[in-house]
Amino acid sequence: MLKVNDNYLKLKAGYLFPEIARRVNTFCSEHPDVDLIRLGIGDVTEPLPSACRDAMKAAIDEMGTHAGFHGYGPEQGYPWLREAIAKFDYHLRGCDISAEEIFVSDGSKCDSSNILDILGPKNRIAVTDPVYPVYVDSNVMAGRTGEVEDSGCYEGLSYIAINEANNFEAQIPKESLDLIYLCFPNNPTGAVATKSKLAAWVDYALKNDALILFDAAYEAFIQDNDIPHSIFEIEGSRQCAIEFRSFSKNAGFTGTRCAFTVIPKTLKGRTQDGKSIDLWSLWNRRQSTKFNGVSYIVQRGAEAVYSNEGQSQVKSLVNFYMENANLIRTELIKAGLTSYGGENAPYVWIKTPDGLDSWSFFDLLLDKANIVGTPGSGFGVAGEGYFRLSAFNSRKNVEKAMKRIANL
Ligand code: MLT
Repeated sequence: MLKVNDNYLKLKAGYLFPEIARRVNTFCSEHPDVDLIRLGIGDVTEPLPSACRDAMKAAIDEMGTHAGFHGYGPEQGYPWLREAIAKFDYHLRGCDISAEEIFVSDGSKCDSSNILDILGPKNRIAVTDPVYPVYVDSNVMAGRTGEVEDSGCYEGLSYIAINEANNFEAQIPKESLDLIYLCFPNNPTGAVATKSKLAAWVDYALKNDALILFDAAYEAFIQDNDIPHSIFEIEGSRQCAIEFRSFSKNAGFTGTRCAFTVIPKTLKGRTQDGKSIDLWSLWNRRQSTKFNGVSYIVQRGAEAVYSNEGQSQVKSLVNFYMENANLIRTELIKAGLTSYGGENAPYVWIKTPDGLDSWSFFDLLLDKANIVGTPGSGFGVAGEGYFRLSAFNSRKNVEKAMKRIANL
């Protein structure tokens, strides 16, 4: 008899966003005329930059000729895109990252789960709480945790609380851990990590022979000049960090799909018998076997992000969403809601009023204001009593949503 992967049965519930979609679909089928405003999943709403569209159109035309046709590309991404990323995202920020250390992919969500393929089963793993649920669920699926405990936490995972008491800063653990997931600017709280905080994490990782998986998918939204955009701005990080980056949120590629993962060639792990081995080679081997690369057309679109035109269009998009974030934050505060984030990230993290739990506040906003947000408890136990609103929507909808909340 065929056996299934029992680890899937340990998962607490459906993945957060499909679960929200299910509840919203039920609500909409019961209230078909409702004017719903979606500030839940962080999915962009503004059109793709014309620089990217033009580059993709030109690439399609090229593909229609014998001379310009492209079949399988390099699994790691085309050199011209990897070189543009290395120059604009790293060299111009003073980071020592080469084009060869950049692996182009179809998403940070996939990469941040697939990376477990090259990591051993016995690592002591830490996530922040609240956290982007993909890090936790992919570890559960891969059998890297025990069962879920009564508290709602998984046995075998370490949780690092980020909350009001510690100003949403992940505190350096006292115990020795092997693998730490960090996401800054943070999803879901919108908090950022200062240079000295990241330096403390790098120091911890170097002392403990640990690996930091650094998710910087929201770096483009940083407004404050002193906040690092990459873990590789920190000295020593080439020996202890992998970074995930994406074109989804800055350039509107959530549907187009393009991202990249940076693995320095100087990054080492150990085999079961204690030998040192570089992670770059393992990931290169994994990608060459299991991945056939991102389409030529999409990579040409991503390359155009780095043209003069692309850079200014992406900047306008980011500014647009950050104006939304600012509007959300200030209007919520005016409405008397304690709110965090939204200053260097497209997410505003709200303390639910009157001691409501996160899902009750979700239902209240859905029923009474016809607004969809994300319940904080969906991001972990410490997210209970919080709620996330995303800045990804039109100005008109954001203004309308804030009026509805003010009138609640
Ligand atoms: C979110 O809403 O947290 C994001 O859209 C998740 C993602 O990027 O996968």
